[in-house]
Amino acid sequence: MNAAAPPPALATRALVAGYERDLPIVRGVDFEVAPAELVVILGPNGAGKSTLVKAIAGLVPIHAGQAFLAGADITASPVQEKVRHGLAFVPQTENIFATLTIQDNLQLAADILPRSEQAARIAEVYELFPDLAARRSACAGNLSGGQRQMLAVARALIVKPSVLILDEPSAGLSPKIVGEVFSRLKEINTAGITIVLVEQNVKAALAIAHRAVILVEGELRHDGPAATLADDPIVAQLYLGATPAGREEQR
Ligand SMILES: Nc1ncnc2c1ncn2[C@@H]1O[C@H](COP(=O)(O)OP(=O)(O)OP(=O)(O)O)[C@@H](O)[C@H]1O
Ligand SMILES: [Mg+2]
Repeated sequence: MNAAAPPPALATRALVAGYERDLPIVRGVDFEVAPAELVVILGPNGAGKSTLVKAIAGLVPIHAGQAFLAGADITASPVQEKVRHGLAFVPQTENIFATLTIQDNLQLAADILPRSEQAARIAEVYELFPDLAARRSACAGNLSGGQRQMLAVARALIVKPSVLILDEPSAGLSPKIVGEVFSRLKEINTAGITIVLVEQNVKAALAIAHRAVILVEGELRHDGPAATLADDPIVAQLYLGATPAGREEQR
């Protein structure tokens, strides 16, 4: 018999989550991400994508179901404990401290590490992001949109996460900068870090993802390889403004 397969890097089981107890936004989501996989979560505005990833990260109450990190139940773990277990989350907004320098942004992220390891880890992250290293005394608020996102990613990487979750890192960026940010994310993933990416930028996200899921009204409606999803009529319908074949007359 084969040795047991490793547990998913991240998983949810029948996850129900929302801001108020009687108002579930995420409604029974079973979601699995394999080690070193890059999965994109797509879905219309208000579908609950942010709520799902915030619930996994510990920022929105989980009403029912479970969340697992490398097989360990993290459903009830406080945020800091999830971080210590290897889960990093880059929220869509307010993911850096704009009034602080790049160095201080990284130092704050490193504060969770043993003091003796902090400087070395910051130096390692600067090696990954030479543009940030060259401007370490610059105020983060003066960075371009793309550089800010890279700083947010750099902050998340400080703790050497096994799983990196990002909520719409391309929001507000020009197509060229989106390409740069996404190719860095792909490199980070290729280096072995599991990535979950919430995106509205469907084509760019599918180009780097292994697999895509679609969340609609708090439920997973599709789960499949990213390569074929771009040609899928469901995606065309939901995102590209297409109508189901032969249904024009019903609109
Ligand atoms: N802080 C909050 N308190 C109460 N309800 C909220 C809160 N944030 C979001 N919601 C509600 O939760 C639902 C899902 O929102 P969510 O932000 O998760 O969607 P999303 O899929 O991330 O959408 P978008 O693509 O616009 O980012 C929406 O009905 C929204 O109004
Ligand atoms: Mg959102």
